[in-house]
Amino acid sequence: MSAADPAILYPQHVTELQIRATEALARGGFDHLLVPSGTLHYQVFDDRDYPYAVNPQFKAWLPLVRNPGSWLVFTPGHKPKLIYLQPFDYWHVVPEAPSGWWVEHFEIAIIRTPAEAAQHLPTAVERCAILGEPQSALGGFVPNNPPAVVNYLEYHRAFKTPYEFAMMREATRIGVRAHRAAEAGFRAGLSEFDIHLAYCAAARQDANDLPYRNIVALNEHGAVLHYTELATQAPGDVRSFLIDAGASFGGYASDITRTYAHDTGGEFQALIDAVDGAQRRMCDQVRPGTDYRRIHLDAHLALAGILHDFGISRLSPEATVETGVSSVFFPHGIGHGIGLQVHDVAGFAQSDRGGTIPKPDGHPYLRTTRVLEPGMVVTIEPGIYFVDLLLDGLKRGEYAGAVDWDRIAAFRPYGGIRIEDDVACTEAAPLNLTRDGFAETA
Ligand code: GLY
Ligand code: MN
Ligand code: MN
Repeated sequence: MSAADPAILYPQHVTELQIRATEALARGGFDHLLVPSGTLHYQVFDDRDYPYAVNPQFKAWLPLVRNPGSWLVFTPGHKPKLIYLQPFDYWHVVPEAPSGWWVEHFEIAIIRTPAEAAQHLPTAVERCAILGEPQSALGGFVPNNPPAVVNYLEYHRAFKTPYEFAMMREATRIGVRAHRAAEAGFRAGLSEFDIHLAYCAAARQDANDLPYRNIVALNEHGAVLHYTELATQAPGDVRSFLIDAGASFGGYASDITRTYAHDTGGEFQALIDAVDGAQRRMCDQVRPGTDYRRIHLDAHLALAGILHDFGISRLSPEATVETGVSSVFFPHGIGHGIGLQVHDVAGFAQSDRGGTIPKPDGHPYLRTTRVLEPGMVVTIEPGIYFVDLLLDGLKRGEYAGAVDWDRIAAFRPYGGIRIEDDVACTEAAPLNLTRDGFAETA
């Protein structure tokens, strides 16, 4: 799909949102849905603003991510209204007049100050579900975030429309292009900081646009799950590279991790290949009716098998999992839903009326527990890491003899491995957006 396709796909998307919003309002007993785009936030005792982050409930409707002070208003049976702030401002670039393929689907009111929005909001404030942050309050229009409304919308947001798939495919394409530039930087011996710059240059995105902070980790730094330090000096001896970095498009995210060995004929490369093979099989589990918790627990068993095959664990795969030893090497969840937010909402939602599906005992970091259905997009991101803190705990505990410490010492300088793809559940075989993205530009 090309970036032009949203024009064709968007009408169905905005219709679907209206259907969902109509039901959500009925559930909550409201007549109008109001969604402020959000406001700038300021640093404490300072006049500097934080990077603006749009209200996800707003960008669900519109590919607008740089428009603080605007509002979306939806009343069932009426065309959605966009109250669009184009401030009188000579300090900053003022948003251009609304244009593009989405404009015709809205009644648009241009305002010049944030306060003017109130003139365009419904008069009966008590009949409004207002979804936003407290700072977006405008007079009596104070965000109330009714649970019945929010639960419904967030639960159904897991089911992507064809428009959303197109946006996520484009976010993936951008990320893949940047990942290729980053790998080239690694092979050329760049520092983490310079690899990061190469990534941003290829993506044409920087920290304000990227869906999360880039994780660019050489050698042992790969063992820090969310390593974002960006050392400016390249290490003398470059052994490995873990990069977890995504891209944004029209408000949608991609989330991609790859791990590379400097010596492509060595044992660390063999370990990467083993995790990669297991990861592909995990991706194939993204099918309707599969409990995401099953994928997570199966991943532990598969990774425990690799730990055994590489002489790291002396226990059987089953015993490696049962004793908790697998969690020392794979200490996070297998993934999460993704879409408008890199960690998309409602990962634990039992139904569109609320409730929580619990995590399996002993797995506190799993971010999704839902049963997969067509339309959902999740990440699959297994890893094997050599984390000093966790290894020290293992060494002091009753299962210290379960592992070969010489083998661990051999792998420790490489940090760790994570392979992460964004995978869509369909009626048929899973769609691996990330692998498709890499294949397109192979
Ligand atoms: N990039 C954060 C994550 O993979 O969840
Ligand atoms: Mn992820
Ligand atoms: Mn990631």
